[in-house]
Amino acid sequence: MTGAGMSVESGIPTFRGKDGLWTRYGQPPMDGFKRFRADPVGWWQKQVNRQMDAHMVELRDALIAAEPHPGHHALTALEEAGALNHVITQNIDGLDLKAGLQNLIEIHGNRSRLRCLGCGERESLGDFVPVEPPEPCAECGDTVKFDTVMFGEPIPEDTMQAARAQIDLATCVVAIGTSASVRPASGLLWIAKSQGAKLIEINPFETKLTSICDVVVRATAGEALDQLAEIFATSAVQVSGDIAANE
Ligand code: APR
Repeated sequence: MTGAGMSVESGIPTFRGKDGLWTRYGQPPMDGFKRFRADPVGWWQKQVNRQMDAHMVELRDALIAAEPHPGHHALTALEEAGALNHVITQNIDGLDLKAGLQNLIEIHGNRSRLRCLGCGERESLGDFVPVEPPEPCAECGDTVKFDTVMFGEPIPEDTMQAARAQIDLATCVVAIGTSASVRPASGLLWIAKSQGAKLIEINPFETKLTSICDVVVRATAGEALDQLAEIFATSAVQVSGDIAANE
């Protein structure tokens, strides 16, 4: 399970904690989705006319410039080594995909995708930035928005079910760069623990999850994941059996 701290080393700011966007600009209103639903055309007009809040401009510019860092590539290497089954990311930056990760659940969506609120049909935008409000969904005619989950918007059912299914399978969950403060995504970490999974935290700072973790690694995502990938690449650890034995 990764959070905004996973992409700090790619130049994308966190939301909370030191230098976080919300720390510097204040928490945005929690009713973004309600406002979108009330006037989707007006919302899209503002978006295409670049009338965005200062924190959104900073975030957007960082997202455009960001590239995967060694930590993202380490996750891909761990997946290829059979040591990592799935990543659930709260990030919308798509950097895991750019680093070649195969088994990914983007629980808060992806900024480079559109999604229909009616049938859930998703369309990839690539690097294209909409310059006018998108047409209604070609499949069902309902409203289309960015795939990114807004404050107050329910996480799409299919995404939540997929994430919960992975949590139910997990014997070990590594919380990387997340303050574990936004439900329902962060709630999955407590569910994993309650179901007997080991919890590991990789975060330079303490979080509300720290006290229930079996292992705490006070390091950045890049530092810790690089070393972890190194261990699995060079040691005699036979990924499946040995992990179970080491449980
Ligand atoms: N490496 C790892 N972790 C880091 C690093 C780093 N280099 N730098 C900071 N962190 C940690 C911080 O200590 C903090 O615990 O990353 C965490 C970021 O926390 P948040 O900003 O709250 O991000 P996140 O947990 O992903 O927030 C969840 O909240 O605003 C919503 O939708 C948004 O997906 C986001 C959700």
